[in-house]
Amino acid sequence: MSRIRLYMAPMQGFTDHMFRSAFADHFGGFDLAVAPFIASRQDHRIKRKYVKDVLPENNTCMPVVPQILSKTAADFIVLANYLHDLGYDTVNWNLGCPYPMVANKQRGSGMLPYTDRIRTFLDRVIPEIRGSLSIKVRLGWKENADIFRLLPVIDQYPLSEIIIHPRTGLQRYEGPVDLDAFEDCKKTMKKIKKTRRPAQYLKRVNLFFETEAQLRQPKADLSP
Ligand SMILES: Cc1cc2nc3c(=O)[nH]c(=O)nc-3n(C[C@H](O)[C@H](O)[C@H](O)COP(=O)(O)O)c2cc1C
Repeated sequence: MSRIRLYMAPMQGFTDHMFRSAFADHFGGFDLAVAPFIASRQDHRIKRKYVKDVLPENNTCMPVVPQILSKTAADFIVLANYLHDLGYDTVNWNLGCPYPMVANKQRGSGMLPYTDRIRTFLDRVIPEIRGSLSIKVRLGWKENADIFRLLPVIDQYPLSEIIIHPRTGLQRYEGPVDLDAFEDCKKTMKKIKKTRRPAQYLKRVNLFFETEAQLRQPKADLSP
């Protein structure tokens, strides 16, 4: 059985390059960190704090995958190619952010009900970015049905990885995770295609930050 790869989940305002370096220096143990999202902009400018966070010289401690929050393919492409030219082979697309100021504009998890928009986005982005793309999703915005509509679509693209947070956007970070739905996602993906892309269960990564009570919750089967 393949070894589980442990990712440091991105947390905007917390897991910046200083946190990642300090954590790696003092504890280690992560195979990779997904950096907190950089929001794409229409004017294609990138805030200084975002640039600083992904500069290679600030990220020597562990492999990092930068993450982009965007619903506009043209803006995403410019940012993804900028990150590629900095040295990042892969960027991650954030389809998980649950906050209303993001989701109400149909970005992050707010885009999950719009399967066709995601398809159009990927049709445009995949051929135009120089690196590869991974995606982080939730089970849906309001309901799990979103992910089961989406998986057969996103499976048609050469994504390097699909990371699933087993809650809906409306749940934000509270309430039970839906491990049955997560299992069903794995089964669906196996059924669609004998895919080699593992679905990563983020909850496991976050156990580092959680309480003893949460650690006592039943464990998920993490095998791909
Ligand atoms: C304050 C905060 C900021 C977060 N920022 C991001 C982010 O920038 N990108 C992202 O994909 N997920 C982000 N997340 C989600 C986490 O990466 C992770 O998926 C989530 O915390 C898992 O759920 P749990 O906290 O209930 O275990 C954030 C979560 C929190 C609480």
